[in-house]
Amino acid sequence: MDYRRTYVRDLLKSQPGGSVSAYGWVKTRRDSKGVHFVQLNDGSCFADLQVVLEAGSIPDSELKKVTTGACVRFDGSLVESPGEGQAVELKATALEVFGPADPESYPLQKKGATMEFLREIAHLRVRGNTFGAVSRVRNRAAWAVHKFFQDRGFSWVHTPMITASDAEGAGAMFHVSTSLEVKNGKYALKSDDPAQDFFGKPSFLTVSGQLNIETHVLGLTNVYPFSPCFRAENSNTARHLSEFWMIEPEQAFCDIEGNMNLAEEFVREVIQDALDNQTDDLAFFDQRIEPGLIKTLEHVAGSSFERITYTDAVEMLRASGESFEFPVSWGCDLQSEHERWLTEKKIGKPVIVTDYPKEIKAFYMYQNDDGKTVRAMDVLVPRIGELIGGSQREDRLDRLERRIDEMGLPKEAYWWYLDLRRFGSAPHAGFGLGFERLIMYLTGMKNIRDVIPFHRAVGQAEF
Ligand code: 4AD
Ligand code: MG
Repeated sequence: MDYRRTYVRDLLKSQPGGSVSAYGWVKTRRDSKGVHFVQLNDGSCFADLQVVLEAGSIPDSELKKVTTGACVRFDGSLVESPGEGQAVELKATALEVFGPADPESYPLQKKGATMEFLREIAHLRVRGNTFGAVSRVRNRAAWAVHKFFQDRGFSWVHTPMITASDAEGAGAMFHVSTSLEVKNGKYALKSDDPAQDFFGKPSFLTVSGQLNIETHVLGLTNVYPFSPCFRAENSNTARHLSEFWMIEPEQAFCDIEGNMNLAEEFVREVIQDALDNQTDDLAFFDQRIEPGLIKTLEHVAGSSFERITYTDAVEMLRASGESFEFPVSWGCDLQSEHERWLTEKKIGKPVIVTDYPKEIKAFYMYQNDDGKTVRAMDVLVPRIGELIGGSQREDRLDRLERRIDEMGLPKEAYWWYLDLRRFGSAPHAGFGLGFERLIMYLTGMKNIRDVIPFHRAVGQAEF
């Protein structure tokens, strides 16, 4: 046995005739007079292969094990299918059951299980329609991300996941430490001195690869990390994970304008790639999860994004007459309800909001001459809200140092980041796109916990 067996995807496209073997998991089995029908799926495509077994062609003792969830191989011949929905089917004359699945206790037995229930059986849910489709869209999107950047000469850089610096200055970080022991079911500290800890100082899981990638943009010109990021925020929402993947392109010799252009081209191209290559999966999402999905994606792939300033956005929100939970005034952080109103109701397509007040953004953003705003950009899309956050970076040493001081951040810790402004600095800009939010957008899935194989959130680290 090796990987060179034929996928169901390829069998479904083959001409009838010839003997073949099909491997996979039984999705359903239906028995009628004199014949058994099995829907077999191996995850290679949305469609199942229909396998037809004539009664008596296979010993009952074997046939008995062909139940939902069982892993099997069928041997037989590929024949033209008289039934609707498929061109060919497999007329099986032999089978091997690799792994039976007791129908009494197999958890994925019932149709119509809720997303919440499926989350509790995340070790099995990939065999169902929804999570199979999510996995394929996710896989293809990751490939499309790399293709987009590689086609444009960007280098993929592997930024570290363990760090000593707080990239966003927001403080919601997981500690990485070996000072902790579990003794009799309780935590005990081996030492309370960070200098005695593994890295000799407080260390964390990274919230963003940005600070590290800025070292490589000044040397490789165009770069992108695509890695897991970790945030210990206690936000129990459908759009936040404690562990998520972020793509963080960074361009040298680039300002906020070039950054917006890249973000727009990137999002539109990845959407187009899904439309071109994941047709069956998207059709399923369109039908069962988010009616109108394909039309919306086609519209977004084909039209330019709106661009407004934060000040414009605040004016629009104030003039809207909507009663928001959080009132809006210049200087406030835009909440998800505001972001969604702007992109869904007011503008009706993706919108890039720029030039936010410096008080609500991170220390590293380029400071505008007005003394009040920074060259930040958030890309907001319908259904999701914020998909991308980015900025032109402050590349002037004196301005950057002043901002770090003003915000009360530990300047010493950023010594190497400041060095980048001392030696061979250049105007540069970048952004971060949350990969799971992109997958939500592509699939119409409502909860971010359902677009990653194993979600991490408060109290959720089972698998
Ligand atoms: O806006 P954020 O916090 O920006 C940064 O971290 C920058 N350092 C990125 C950069 O300029 N290189 O995060 C960027 C994106 C968000 O727009 C969102 O899509 C996603 O990352 N994101 C999350 N996704 C899932 N769960 C979370 N807890 C997320 N936090 C951010
Ligand atoms: Mg943000």
